[in-house]
Amino acid sequence: MSNVLRVAIVDPRDDTRDKLKSMLLGMEIVWLEADCSRYEFFPDVVAQSNPDVGLICLDSDPDKAISLLEKMRTEAPECAMLAVSGSSDGPRILKAIRAGAKEFLTLPVSLEEMMSALGRISQAKFGGTDGRARSSRIIAVAGASGGVGCTSLAVNLGCILAANPNNTVALVDLDLAVGDADVFLDTIPDYSLVDVTQNISRLDFHLLKRSLTKHSSGLYLLPRPVQLQDVRLINPESIRRIFGLLKATFSHIVIDLSKSFTETDLAAMEFANDLLLVVQLDLPCLRNLVRLQMSFDEIEGLRDKVRIVVNRAGMESGQIKLKKAKETIGREIFAQIPNDYRTMVEVRNNGVPLLEHAPKAAITLALQQMANTICGEQTVIESEAPKTSRGPTSWMNFFPASLKSKSK
Ligand SMILES: Nc1ncnc2c1ncn2[C@@H]1O[C@H](COP(=O)(O)OP(=O)(O)O)[C@@H](O)[C@H]1O
Ligand SMILES: [Mg+2]
Repeated sequence: MSNVLRVAIVDPRDDTRDKLKSMLLGMEIVWLEADCSRYEFFPDVVAQSNPDVGLICLDSDPDKAISLLEKMRTEAPECAMLAVSGSSDGPRILKAIRAGAKEFLTLPVSLEEMMSALGRISQAKFGGTDGRARSSRIIAVAGASGGVGCTSLAVNLGCILAANPNNTVALVDLDLAVGDADVFLDTIPDYSLVDVTQNISRLDFHLLKRSLTKHSSGLYLLPRPVQLQDVRLINPESIRRIFGLLKATFSHIVIDLSKSFTETDLAAMEFANDLLLVVQLDLPCLRNLVRLQMSFDEIEGLRDKVRIVVNRAGMESGQIKLKKAKETIGREIFAQIPNDYRTMVEVRNNGVPLLEHAPKAAITLALQQMANTICGEQTVIESEAPKTSRGPTSWMNFFPASLKSKSK
């Protein structure tokens, strides 16, 4: 479930506000956009941050709070108001509902009550027929070996998705030590993952976008840290917080993962809807792929996300035939991206995306097709092993005897 509700809260009482805030901060479907301690400031806060939900605690001054609800109903009708009070007094509930509150919760609020109230608001707001659900598609790109083309595919996939004016797309470079997505986009970013991590509690929707580097294709880049020493500042927890915010902000997020499958990579993979596992049809790559697949199968929910992408397909020398490779892998190939060395060298050296440099090239069309399959209306994804799936046994038969003993 990737619908995220952006919530702003107003409560002049510090104790209840802090409790509600920490509950909201712990909820995956919520991005806490703003908090406010004065009823009179709340209309401005909502006008600036444009949240989906306004949570108002009535107890500090019930009359003022009810007038605020009425004001919000006319000034910000798109913002669903949720009233909270320590009193379950019938007339008070009635007043709040008549003033425009969509939901009323009695303090102390349990997590379940909050979840179901926000769930109903989300359903009413996004679940209707107008199709405006704020849901984001997160596509992680990983490689079964170094230099297989992950960054090339991630950057160009991001640019292709960003070409659709309905999309807002971010590319996150999680190759923390030696990531080079900025080079592919010919940009020198002002801020990196470290800045965003360190300021996460202060960032809102607008500040986040300003912290990212916007490429002329429309793609927003969140690059790896500049200093190697700063890599350790990025941990699974910060990744979870960053992705919480990104999900609430962008319609699509592409992640260029490192080749080490570190804890931070794994934390980001949890958020992904799709894990594109890029391979080339050579022996080391296929061997790693089979090994990785076995490990991924142990991680809950990961197997169904994995989509195998063969890059540099059609390259003659040293390549294993596709049929043989399929037997080895024992799973469907999700997409094949043709080999086009010249074009790829040019786009990388000039820092220009394929869509701009070679919009009609077969490689660009193949990437567009892949983007459509992932994000299009009739996405049909065959990620499951075929019925006749042959796993590691066929793989063992495939590799030369010298490799078999090592792989046990
Ligand atoms: N489909 C392709 N055809 C030809 N060369 C490619 C293709 N995809 C990537 N390359 C080249 O492979 C090299 C490694 O690509 P890169 O994206 O940096 O890999 P990774 O991120 O997996 O290390 C680059 O020189 C790139 O230009
Ligand atoms: Mg790379």
